[in-house]
Amino acid sequence: MRTRVAVIGGGQNCEHDVSLASAASVAGALDPATYDVVPLTIGRDGTWRDRGLRPIGLSGAAQVLRGCDVVFPVVHGPRGEDGALAALCELAGLPYVGSGIRPGALAMDKWATKLVAQAVGIAVAPGVLVTPATARHLRWTHPVVVKPVAAGSSQGVSRVDVPDALQPALDAAFALDDRVLVEDVVVGREVDVAVLKRADGSLFVPPALEIVADGIFDYDAKYGGHADFRLPARLEEADAKALRYAATEVFDALGCAGVARVDFFLTAAGPVLNEVNTMPGMTAHSQAPRMFAAGGMAYAELLDELVRSAHR
Ligand SMILES: Nc1ncnc2c1ncn2[C@@H]1O[C@H](COP(=O)(O)OP(=O)(O)O)[C@@H](O)[C@H]1O
Ligand SMILES: [Mg+2]
Repeated sequence: MRTRVAVIGGGQNCEHDVSLASAASVAGALDPATYDVVPLTIGRDGTWRDRGLRPIGLSGAAQVLRGCDVVFPVVHGPRGEDGALAALCELAGLPYVGSGIRPGALAMDKWATKLVAQAVGIAVAPGVLVTPATARHLRWTHPVVVKPVAAGSSQGVSRVDVPDALQPALDAAFALDDRVLVEDVVVGREVDVAVLKRADGSLFVPPALEIVADGIFDYDAKYGGHADFRLPARLEEADAKALRYAATEVFDALGCAGVARVDFFLTAAGPVLNEVNTMPGMTAHSQAPRMFAAGGMAYAELLDELVRSAHR
């Protein structure tokens, strides 16, 4: 008997297209000898669609999901990766791949993530949380990065090097969230660490990846096909160890499961956590799958590990 896996893609947020690509890739790479893939798509407007892209509504989707053995949600961002799909699966009593409700919700909130990281001794960028009401009192004194607390794919993220650029940056971030982080610019190399929690509870951390970006690693650089990665990242043994330690500490403190990509700035003083993605880009060419491949775990094998590690 093959395992029926529902692969959910799309979603109601600015990373919809990115998720469609991830989900299509996952659906296409789950070994057909073992898995029977049932694709489901969530439209930008929230409409659930079946394999033939027919609208089936939430109740129709629930019926499809009930006929599956495992749910593999591949939806990035809010109403997906933020615990929303984990909650749906929990309430329906369905085994699912990836982090549960709390880690999803915490990691989606960049501010909460930073509080948790700090609490376990992992450095983060100094910064403040602002709302539209408190942002009015902000005065620019030094270069900062302004970003929505919960978005993704660098949308609404800007670096502000001059006072006049602060207001437009805040407007862009508030367009995506009603809470915004204003952070000191961290000077360091961008290094991402992937963590996989296997079915037996052990953690697997493949070689880290360095993003060679000039300034903000923005949407175009991420998906325009000209991202420059260095894999494995060239790291001193002490830095590699510190990154691995920080990544697994944060993964465990948040209570993550499945795969997460834990993103850092590697500074002269060591790793500074930037953010945690509990459903990182999952195409075969995305960063996390490439890191696992570099660690000897091929894409199909990674997907297999993920399905076998599903919550029950
Ligand atoms: N405090 C910071 N200092 C320097 N660069 C930053 C800072 N915060 C974000 N960036 C840059 O902006 C990019 C996107 O920000 P990030 O917080 O990762 O948002 P997203 O969830 O959209 O990926 C990062 O990859 C990095 O290049
Ligand atoms: Mg990021």
